[in-house]
Amino acid sequence: MTAGSLQTGHANRMRSALPAMLACLAVGASGLLAAQTADDVERGKAVFDNYCIHCHGSGPHNSGATVMLEEKYAGAVPGSLEERTTLTPEFIREFVRGEIGMAAYRPTEIPDPDLQALTAYLMRNNP
Ligand code: HEC
Repeated sequence: MTAGSLQTGHANRMRSALPAMLACLAVGASGLLAAQTADDVERGKAVFDNYCIHCHGSGPHNSGATVMLEEKYAGAVPGSLEERTTLTPEFIREFVRGEIGMAAYRPTEIPDPDLQALTAYLMRNNP
């Protein structure tokens, strides 16, 4: 179900259908969380290693974007994306799809399921 589908239909019917929809959303959300298993994280790491690591690598030889981000945040958060604990799906998506800053990746390069796996990987340490 998409957010758009919530906006269709008559308002009265909407009201009576709302609890069911919310229940469905809740199940959907927990299903999504359950789907973000070790598999997703592992696949996301592969996507990261393939597409991101040459600019966002970490370790003794930090690569370009890591150095830039270290300067930008001046210690407030790690320059390395892999060490962040505050990334959100929206933020990752905005950058990967090129809505801001960095070059974009087309869905033919990084399809949405891969983006989801990548997100699971980058959010694996979030509290
Ligand atoms: C060609 C180099 C390059 C590659 C490859 C690259 N990025 Fe970036 N990325 C950058 C640069 C440079 C910035 C900082 C630009 C800016 O702030 O506008 C950045 C910024 C970001 C940010 C914002 C970080 C912040 O806190 O401001 C995210 C998230 C991000 N990249 C994710 C990714 C992901 C995920 C991939 C792989 C799919 C990727 N990038 C691949 C160069 C790259």
